[in-house]
Amino acid sequence: MMNPLFDTIIDRTHTHSMKWEKYEDTDILPMWVADMDFKAPPAVLAALQKIITHGILGYTQVPHDLNQIVISRLAALYGWEVEQDWLIWVPGVVSGLNAACRAFGRQDQAIVTTTPIYPPFLSVSEHCGKPLHTLPMVTEAGRATLDFEGLEQLFQKKPGLFLFCSPYNPCGTLFTTEELKQLADLCETYDVILCSDEIHSDFVLDPYNRHIPSATVSKTAARRTITLMAPSKTYNIPGLGCSFAVISDPDLRHRFKAACKGILPSVNLMGLAAAKAAYASCDDWLAQLIAYLRQNRDTVMEKVSQMPGCRVDPIQATYLAWIDVKETGLTDPVGFFEQAGVGLSDGKYFGAPGFVRLNFGCPAALLDKGLQRMEKALQSL
Ligand SMILES: Cc1ncc(COP(=O)(O)O)c(C=O)c1O
Repeated sequence: MMNPLFDTIIDRTHTHSMKWEKYEDTDILPMWVADMDFKAPPAVLAALQKIITHGILGYTQVPHDLNQIVISRLAALYGWEVEQDWLIWVPGVVSGLNAACRAFGRQDQAIVTTTPIYPPFLSVSEHCGKPLHTLPMVTEAGRATLDFEGLEQLFQKKPGLFLFCSPYNPCGTLFTTEELKQLADLCETYDVILCSDEIHSDFVLDPYNRHIPSATVSKTAARRTITLMAPSKTYNIPGLGCSFAVISDPDLRHRFKAACKGILPSVNLMGLAAAKAAYASCDDWLAQLIAYLRQNRDTVMEKVSQMPGCRVDPIQATYLAWIDVKETGLTDPVGFFEQAGVGLSDGKYFGAPGFVRLNFGCPAALLDKGLQRMEKALQSL
């Protein structure tokens, strides 16, 4: 069934969209960077319109009721009892990741993360001048997960921080309580701080599953976890730069804030107003979005598995498909698909050449067009 909220094709050309401008004045459909081609929810647009009508765009405090709305949401979704002090608003999750890397661990202590991974995880160490150790994810029964033995070996080298992504971009994994407990126990044993990027937590596509915040699995997990969340992906407002950290431990919180001081600006009034409207009154919009993305996910799974040389594992969460194209023998898969009229993300930037990432957060008609182009080009190889 059509849904005008998500089926309407909106022209994003000539709007300085990062996603669309890359292929401006070409016939290439952009399906790369993770923003969606949907309008933000009407209540969010109305809140922004109200500010424009008022006309004053000044410095802004975080509204108290926004904190309360977030606290209620975290309690309702995860049974997580968060206190107001624990919330620190930052103008981006990537900024939060970089602040965490500066805040935790000595300068000679490594940062650990897994591959393939959202590329900014791989550049943080360069920004803060600390060593980086990476560990490949393992795939078990078509599901990418942590290699706990490998992780323990890396933790024995005494790193300061583990950068984790849950749900996992790009593989779409939704982690279980058992896995998260195992990870938290390893962090406790080896005294590693856990920074958990949960920006994709609202995109659970498995109907019988749910997201579990890393900090909620045990008391020790809570004590050593920095959680990063945001309304930005969920309500398609990533350009407004609004996200928050949840840090229950006072010492970690103090160190995180100190790393942000004087460098990170506070979140702007548009971002805060959008966040408030989104979290307060867009549950129904979000439920419809998830239903729509589930259908798109099913289309991607069906169509990609029929493409010669392509493989995609089940996608539990996110609106991203991580496609293994090694068997196509293509040396430049992204260039090949661009020639065919589809712009994808190159796995090499995620630490995994031979893969491409497809963003299916778009009207089904655009998705079908992109998938048809890919299929046709591969057939003619
Ligand atoms: C895992 C992950 N973290 C962070 C971000 C970006 O966050 P922000 O725009 O708030 O810096 C993205 C965007 O794609 C992402 O996938």
